[in-house]
Amino acid sequence: MLIVANWKANPLSTGEVKKLFSVAEGKENVVICPPHPFLCFAENVLLGAQDCSAHKQGSFTGEVSPHMLKSMGCKYVIIGHSERRTVMGESLSLVNEKLKAAVFAGLVPILCVGETTSVDSSGGDMAGEEIKKQLLTAFSGVSPKKVVIAYEPIFSIGTGKPCPVTVANSRRILIKSIIAKKCSPSVAEDIPVLYGGSVTAQNVFSYVKEGGFQGVLIGKASLNISEFKKIIKNLVCDQKK
Ligand code: PGA
Repeated sequence: MLIVANWKANPLSTGEVKKLFSVAEGKENVVICPPHPFLCFAENVLLGAQDCSAHKQGSFTGEVSPHMLKSMGCKYVIIGHSERRTVMGESLSLVNEKLKAAVFAGLVPILCVGETTSVDSSGGDMAGEEIKKQLLTAFSGVSPKKVVIAYEPIFSIGTGKPCPVTVANSRRILIKSIIAKKCSPSVAEDIPVLYGGSVTAQNVFSYVKEGGFQGVLIGKASLNISEFKKIIKNLVCDQKK
């Protein structure tokens, strides 16, 4: 079970950062992904980064190398978040390069995939094709072993409109079947798939219990201390049952 907090470009002050980190202190399965400048304020927290460069080092102004993140204590790095794909214009091939660089640096990539729209007027499965393309290009020349996948339908991210659990579950099964075909059924079975998109303390349980996900990727709710505490409590209690 993995609970990943993606703070995005929040918060603004180091005082808030310390309070937010304190929720995850000493917790083995809670990964905090703060903005890069705040990584150094974490103590006894499982750390991830929100993005990394495809380059190891050199003349790449503004880039943050996965090797630097590793040496800062990061274990994970989010790759290909939809906001990077759509707002920052990251291409499928750049996502592939970043994934390779992250694996090479010894980080565990959390690869985000997900369809753009919930409506398919053609009656086909455009969403499934979109996810397949994202997965196959991301894993070109790199094994999905030791990678975490996050299924994040774009229409659910930051919208307050979570994906229906039955739909999310069918996408999770699709992701596993694509990996099984590309690699092997055992690789597909082992790969953790998380759900992300408007997760709250109220709905988190259903994605794990009914949706079969191995955890969640949380944006907005991870910035609300009491809500995030409830999410952790709900999932950890579930595990003990
Ligand atoms: P959200 O964001 O929980 O605010 O929908 C999820 C994400 O962007 O990973």
